[in-house]
Amino acid sequence: MTGRIDGKVAVVTGGCSGIGLATVQRFVAEGAKVVIGDIADDAGAKVVADLGGADVATYMHVDVTDKDEVDALFKTAKDTYGSVDIAFNNAGISPPEDDSILDTDLDAWRKVQEVNLTSVYLCCKAALPYMLEQKSGSIINTASFVAVMGSATSQISYSASKGGVLTMSRELGVQFAREGVRVNALCPGPVNTPLLKELFASDPERAARRLVHVPMGRFGEPEEMASAVLFLASDDSSFITANTFLVDGGLSGAYVTPL
Ligand SMILES: NC(=O)c1ccc[n+]([C@@H]2O[C@H](COP(=O)([O-])OP(=O)(O)OC[C@H]3O[C@@H](n4cnc5c(N)ncnc54)[C@H](O)[C@@H]3O)[C@@H](O)[C@H]2O)c1
Repeated sequence: MTGRIDGKVAVVTGGCSGIGLATVQRFVAEGAKVVIGDIADDAGAKVVADLGGADVATYMHVDVTDKDEVDALFKTAKDTYGSVDIAFNNAGISPPEDDSILDTDLDAWRKVQEVNLTSVYLCCKAALPYMLEQKSGSIINTASFVAVMGSATSQISYSASKGGVLTMSRELGVQFAREGVRVNALCPGPVNTPLLKELFASDPERAARRLVHVPMGRFGEPEEMASAVLFLASDDSSFITANTFLVDGGLSGAYVTPL
């Protein structure tokens, strides 16, 4: 199927890798123009070239914790392609120094809160005026299954940040529901991306321990997340807002999983 978001303009943060990259590729394949905000400049240039250049995609160096850079990202989408229809606020980190609360220091806590949670506040704040003016828009914020489930293999600031993303998305979805703007939280289960690979490379036992809890017995693929984001971005999900959209291979529904 193609053309499901024909003529729409999307902003994607963290669009140079993993879930964000797969979504950028899918968005363009489905007819959208995309502005990518990321800090991976070499990858960004390559992604845009591979997609066919400035006619369909633009890369900007944007640290999502910086308000001015985030504001410039959404303004560029409007100025370059004419509107801001879709915001996929997705950039996030999961550094190893964020661990059990007993071992995580304040600097590590704050860094993850800034990149994972404050960034989503900044992106929503920047996107909403454009969407409210045009009386339409779809915001998808990347939370995680850890926003709804506790983990004994803790990353305390990461989990708390994703809980914040989920709650903020729900509240914005409710607040702006009658003004044509939908806001949903994508809650991926464990997905096969550099972020997860990096985390588990140092600790294969931890990876195996997590996999036991996924009924499907595997990690998700970035393309499977992109399909879900496309659905939330498109009019196919026109009656869905303030939603906890779990795409997790059954993880959050499981008590005992198959052997
Ligand atoms: N991979 C998983 O298992 C999983 C599960 C649940 C949720 N998530 C969430 O999905 C999102 C994407 O994760 P991924 O696995 O695709 O990660 P990834 O590491 O593959 O990609 C993250 C991207 O964000 C960019 N980024 C990092 N810090 C940034 C900053 N300050 N400003 C701008 N860009 C920045 C990176 O350069 C990278 O391109 C994250 O929010 C993550 O928390 C991932």
